[in-house]
Amino acid sequence: MWDERYSVDEYIFGTEPNSFLAEHAEILEDPVLSLAEGEGRNAVFLASLGFRVHGVDLSEIGLAKAMALARAEHVTIETEVADLNTFVPKHRSYGSVISIFVHVPASTRGRLYPLLEKCLKPGGILLLEAYTEEQLTRDTGGPRDPDVMMSESKILREFPHLEPIMLQERVREVIEGTYHTGIASVVQYIGRKSG
Ligand SMILES: C[S@@+](CC[C@H](N)C(=O)[O-])C[C@H]1O[C@@H](n2cnc3c(N)ncnc32)[C@H](O)[C@@H]1O
Repeated sequence: MWDERYSVDEYIFGTEPNSFLAEHAEILEDPVLSLAEGEGRNAVFLASLGFRVHGVDLSEIGLAKAMALARAEHVTIETEVADLNTFVPKHRSYGSVISIFVHVPASTRGRLYPLLEKCLKPGGILLLEAYTEEQLTRDTGGPRDPDVMMSESKILREFPHLEPIMLQERVREVIEGTYHTGIASVVQYIGRKSG
């Protein structure tokens, strides 16, 4: 499905970074693992700030567009085609992990999230924004399956080893390309691994 969506000239989530990420980028530590990076808007933004970014995604077509965007913006990013159901990030290797509108089932999160905690260096940061279940009542974007939607309580339960620096569910305007446009219900999280 994602390869098909990305097989158009336009960048379907735009080329500007996610606004929650842009507002809080100064808290991130280098290097950054970007989960389900898609067409590269967030990785390219972080690379332009000087971060080394490793972006993984299932979609080869999305990542090819990410590399093209990086070339156009004269920055370097690293990409890897990987399925989050099997991806194993390197232990204690990243200063930060970002997860922007990555919606995967509880069974996938149950395997992946402990690995994310482990792949952070001490003091490392995880930054996440995702749609909540309330988004199911809107037609402004996001999946239609409650299992993949996130919430404050899921985050606290599923990242037990991170200390929340910021955690909030809120309604905000998301203007990020064709598929995410309008008033949306999201959860925003920044967590830190203790030193
Ligand atoms: C809503 S898009 C968000 C893309 C990007 N994070 C952004 O904010 O522009 C969701 C992304 O998740 C990726 N994805 C979905 N399931 C995946 C999986 N199991 N493994 C890796 N990537 C996956 C899709 O290919 C797509 O790029």
